[in-house]
Amino acid sequence: MNKLLNTLFALVVASVTSLALAQQPPATAPAGAPGANSPGATPAAGPASPKSLEAKVAMCVGCHGIVGYKSSFPEVYRVPKIAGQSAKYIAAALNAYKTGDRKHPTMRGIAESLSDQDVTDIAAYYEKLGAEDRKPIAEKPSREPSAQVAGLLQKAACASCHGANFSKPIDPSYPKIGGQYADYVFVALKAYKTENNPAVGRNNGVMGAIAKQFSNAELKALSNYVGSLEGEMATVPESRWHKSH
Ligand code: HEC
Ligand code: HEC
Repeated sequence: MNKLLNTLFALVVASVTSLALAQQPPATAPAGAPGANSPGATPAAGPASPKSLEAKVAMCVGCHGIVGYKSSFPEVYRVPKIAGQSAKYIAAALNAYKTGDRKHPTMRGIAESLSDQDVTDIAAYYEKLGAEDRKPIAEKPSREPSAQVAGLLQKAACASCHGANFSKPIDPSYPKIGGQYADYVFVALKAYKTENNPAVGRNNGVMGAIAKQFSNAELKALSNYVGSLEGEMATVPESRWHKSH
């Protein structure tokens, strides 16, 4: 089974790499990054059709299931936490890669290979993944911003959409951002500002208008604050799918 999964994954990566052409250097793992085999993981509570879900999620594990895994395009940053993110937002994000509203070439190639049913199943799976390890977080953010960051947060009313603790968005199709990797948050915020680049950028009216009000240094300060908060998302090593170990 493991061999099959590995082969599947290699094939997916190969096809994605060729789709992405030379624009996308392969994601790199830092030397000594912890592997995906943690013996402590508990088996998932039986999804309706574990086989097919396993095959679908096998495509994601090599990046989103490895703690500390980094992408190197358009710069080096940690691959986002998606376990514990809301299913509606995960589906919206995958559909944005599919339509090209989000231009990241690797995620576009992956999303284009998913059917609508795949998107629904995978989004539901990731929303629940790791739920047994999550503690409810407080309504207030787990730390106060500096005066500078407080001013930036106020200027764009970030909390009015993402929630006071940045993990309770006013609509489930809006992302939780509290505790997301700061380097990824920075890349995402800059992408909303980027225009006329075939491989980088995110078309989103709301976040585009917001991100454009800030310099990159300000976006970085915002990212560092948001990333420093307690959150509900995690990178969960998905060894539970590799039961033959
Ligand atoms: C080769 C590495 C790689 C693989 C494989 C991969 N991803 Fe990603 N994923 C990334 C990177 C890098 C990003 C950030 C892209 C960006 O900047 O928009 C990302 C972004 C995402 C996002 C958006 C997160 C957010 O907070 O907006 C979702 C959702 C996602 N991936 C889901 C998946 C799913 C589901 C799979 C498997 C079907 C998958 N990914 C496979 C590297 C990968
Ligand atoms: C009017 C509502 C609204 C406000 C105000 C708002 N956001 Fe957003 N934010 C959204 C929506 C909707 C998305 C999803 C956009 C998409 O689909 O790409 C989003 C996406 C994001 C993302 C990408 C998350 C990811 O996982 O990729 C980040 C980071 C973010 N917002 C940070 C902020 C910050 C920081 C502020 C304040 C400076 C802010 N937002 C203000 C609605 C809002």
